[in-house]
Amino acid sequence: MSIVYEETSGVISLYTRHSTYQMKADTLGTLLHTHYGGRLAGDDMSGQICCIDRGLSGNPYEYGRSRREYSLDVLPQEYPCFGTGDFRTAALRVRNADGSQAAQLRFAGCRTEKGKYALEGLPAVYAGEAEADTLTVLLRDPATGLEAELRYGVLEELDVITRAARITNRGTAPVVLEKAASASLDWQFGRYDWLTFHGRHAMERNLTRQPLRHGVQSVGCVRGTSSHQYNPFTILCEPAATETAGECWGMCFLYSGEFLMEAELDQVDQIRLVCSIHPDDFAWTLAPGESFQTPEVMLAYSGEGLGRLSRIFHRVIREHVCRGPWRDRRRPVLLNDWEATYFDFDGDKLVSIARKAAGLGMELFVMDDGWFGRRKDDNGGLGDWYPNEEKLGCSLRELAERINAVGMDFGIWFEPEGISEDSDLYKAHPDWAIRIPGRAPCLARNQLVLDFSRREVQDHIIGQLRGVLSGAPIRYVKWDMNRSISDKFTAALPPERQGEFAHRYVLGLYRVLEELTQAFPDILFEGCSGGGGRFDAGMLYYTPQIWCSDNTDAINRLDIQYGTSFCYPASAVGAHVSAVPNHQTGRNTPLATRGCLAMAGTFGYELDVTRLSGEEQEEVRRQIERFRQSADLIRTGEYYRLCAPEEGCAAWEFAAPDGSRALVQAVFTHIEANPIPVHIRVRGLQADARYRVELTDPGAIEDSALYKRWFPAPAILSGAALERGGLTLSPPWREYQSWEIQLRREQT
Ligand code: DGJ
Repeated sequence: MSIVYEETSGVISLYTRHSTYQMKADTLGTLLHTHYGGRLAGDDMSGQICCIDRGLSGNPYEYGRSRREYSLDVLPQEYPCFGTGDFRTAALRVRNADGSQAAQLRFAGCRTEKGKYALEGLPAVYAGEAEADTLTVLLRDPATGLEAELRYGVLEELDVITRAARITNRGTAPVVLEKAASASLDWQFGRYDWLTFHGRHAMERNLTRQPLRHGVQSVGCVRGTSSHQYNPFTILCEPAATETAGECWGMCFLYSGEFLMEAELDQVDQIRLVCSIHPDDFAWTLAPGESFQTPEVMLAYSGEGLGRLSRIFHRVIREHVCRGPWRDRRRPVLLNDWEATYFDFDGDKLVSIARKAAGLGMELFVMDDGWFGRRKDDNGGLGDWYPNEEKLGCSLRELAERINAVGMDFGIWFEPEGISEDSDLYKAHPDWAIRIPGRAPCLARNQLVLDFSRREVQDHIIGQLRGVLSGAPIRYVKWDMNRSISDKFTAALPPERQGEFAHRYVLGLYRVLEELTQAFPDILFEGCSGGGGRFDAGMLYYTPQIWCSDNTDAINRLDIQYGTSFCYPASAVGAHVSAVPNHQTGRNTPLATRGCLAMAGTFGYELDVTRLSGEEQEEVRRQIERFRQSADLIRTGEYYRLCAPEEGCAAWEFAAPDGSRALVQAVFTHIEANPIPVHIRVRGLQADARYRVELTDPGAIEDSALYKRWFPAPAILSGAALERGGLTLSPPWREYQSWEIQLRREQT
């Protein structure tokens, strides 16, 4: 059992391979947080707590005169409450029936179980009985009877701890939850950097790293989705932490709606990190006997730098968040028609693109937006999920069969949460669109959003999609969502409970996704929200991959995929080769470089292949062959960031867990005269094994005299030489040049 509860001392320790998480109930029952970091050997870390009279930091009533140095305001705690003496960022804020905003939770017992708890209606890490243990700690407010069950999942081998809280009103009057965090973490010592991931449409998940300053700093969003603007993932690390050294802690929210992550450096230089549903848009009424379940947070600790922290998250997401048969399958090389045709297509045009794509080795044809209802551009038609047979020139089944006949599987796009005023659905159910009565709603892409908090709306969409998916041989669905949700209101709730809407919307979305993914397990679902506007671990529970960004420019993708890699595995990153000049930036990049970025994800194409020159077609054919040879390595390999894009050359690596193989990819973003070569250290190899080192993109590089000078391939080098000595990459001789280097262990 990875959980140890010592009843006499009150210490509870959770052990993973390399970390220990510890808490302890004090004599009053306040649950103190005493350690999260490197693995301990059975110690009680509460001795580290240094109590000093902090003046205006008050004391629990029971201690009044005797212990003026004992204050909730500075004690490290597991689930701090607002209103009763801790003036820092709270995990729980309630409004009681008398109007007071106070709670004080005291330890009331704990229990452990084999296996990992599940959360009804919410995504959660799953694991077998032998892979995880669960701790449930019960806290109770003696004044009101409010209870909090803190749940911890301990995945010992994976080095992951999950947390979630369930709040129950055991009193006699209603209570309003104004904030209910999934997790709160306190550090008593240390100065740390805070890493967050910000962005915008088509430029998601840029890394920001800054020292924590005094006060509260936060990232979050109230847009209805987890958003392009901030990702629900964050890291705290030592200022000196690098990819390979230093202590780091990661917090990943399995939630696709509005969230808040707050980091506070307090008056005595302690740190608190709190993750919750965004409280600005949240007020949940609990009648006596009712409970509220928070979403789940995953925590990981690495004492060996950021790279290891990322690999922990990659593995747990890949193997214990993503589900279904596609979790472990190689994903098909797809051709998506969006950047090839936009709305300008008919059935014949799609079939001719599919025929050419099949000839080049692509396997799945995806018909994106524009195939349904009266949708001729992005101004109308959303909600009418029946094919426009006039435009397609045939039924959907016939089109899918025509695509199958040229040798490709068929996939299709939906935006199930969207509704256009210009649609039959809106005419029939105008009240199903989210808007505030008596107020003109904010339009975005000239569309509104369906009220997914309502059961009848969920049922309608489930029925519509079931009909389409069972009416034609469909192997893939792209699930898009193209606006932020404003004007939040639902006709299904009374005025005093409108604060439940944003979260109920997400619960509704999860129900629809659950029903459809369970009903069609063989369909590969890909999430999307105007690209990466809902790229989170909650969505990955339903869709094992997500379109990473609407930006297909290979050079911008370096930054986007670099930021994404801190938490999410390459198997989740939707990435395609598109045409040049790029449709978002106008930039020209070599086809090899575009291929390199797409291969570092799910790999596909998004261009009109009928317009490729003979030479380009040849290169695409070879690209696909190369991808197939490395697809499993990319999907399941250990990911290493070797050089950050800002260094002028971005480089990363996929290494087989057994050290038998590795693939290094690199893209130069900066060229200059009289250049300085780039040096990388290959990771994850066996020091005493010998590796054959080969460039695998000869198309672009082989004939270069410079390359031959710098890289006399194929070379045979030991793992020790490659990791401790490293490899030199020849400076580029053309803009945005890429490298792909295969390393294979030699048979001994
Ligand atoms: C936004 C997506 O991110 C694009 O890939 C495309 O599917 C469009 N929506 C279609 O409207």
